[in-house]
Amino acid sequence: MVMTQSRLPRHIAIIMDGNGRWAKKRLLPRHFGHKAGLETVRRVVKFCAEKQIEALTLFAFSSENWRRPEQEVSLLMQLFISALNREVNKLHKNNVKLHIIGALHVFPEKLQQLIANAEIITQNNTGLNLVIAANYGGHWDIVEATKKLAQQIEQGTLRSEEITEELLSQQICLAHLPNPDLFIRTGGEKRVSNFLLWQLAYTEMYFTDTLWPDFDQATFTQALESFATRQRRFGRTGEQVEKDA
Ligand code: IPE
Ligand code: IPE
Ligand code: MG
Repeated sequence: MVMTQSRLPRHIAIIMDGNGRWAKKRLLPRHFGHKAGLETVRRVVKFCAEKQIEALTLFAFSSENWRRPEQEVSLLMQLFISALNREVNKLHKNNVKLHIIGALHVFPEKLQQLIANAEIITQNNTGLNLVIAANYGGHWDIVEATKKLAQQIEQGTLRSEEITEELLSQQICLAHLPNPDLFIRTGGEKRVSNFLLWQLAYTEMYFTDTLWPDFDQATFTQALESFATRQRRFGRTGEQVEKDA
């Protein structure tokens, strides 16, 4: 199937799941799966940049992932730190603009510094917007946005009856990007696991059993092809959409 740019999603959001099971299948410790998963991240970023996708949001660590064994959490942090250290210059060369979302203040100071630097280095780039969700939760996101509006009310610059969906949207993470058009979850689970709850309201969902380390160009292309066949109605009838096409 030939995909024209208009049938490509502008923004893709991915739950990168299945690293642990990938390692288990090979009788390896779970962290081998996370390392292999990082390779997939490189591949997918490259592919999105080549396809001129506007934005890619990757779920790297959820607000619930702290419940994992301490050793795994610490290894994931180390992996995140070394990836930032090693990849930022390359991302910058490739015109990628990096943005990290989540409750970052709980991370070690060194990691927060790295994140801030990476964002500063790449801030003027005009290519792919690469968003990494780390210690992110959709509930947290909505609560933070609500707090910001509440502060405006406290300061007397906003009245509660003036709150609209639009106003709340502006305070939610990724307000500067179009909402995700395509959501992909690898690893076979069919749930959203507290990812971008607000932003996914009208996103097309694609679930694949492929484990994240095995997710390659062919499986990614299948997801894009599935997206290209979908009729996005946003509440209207199919006939209305066809008439406007
Ligand atoms: C996703 O893979 C990576 C993170 C949550 C950091 P998992 O580690 O959840 O892999 P499975 O689901 O156990 O296979
Ligand atoms: C979701 O995967 C979070 C990330 C991929 C970072 P999980 O593997 O943690 O999700 P659940 O707990 O199985 O829903
Ligand atoms: Mg999992």
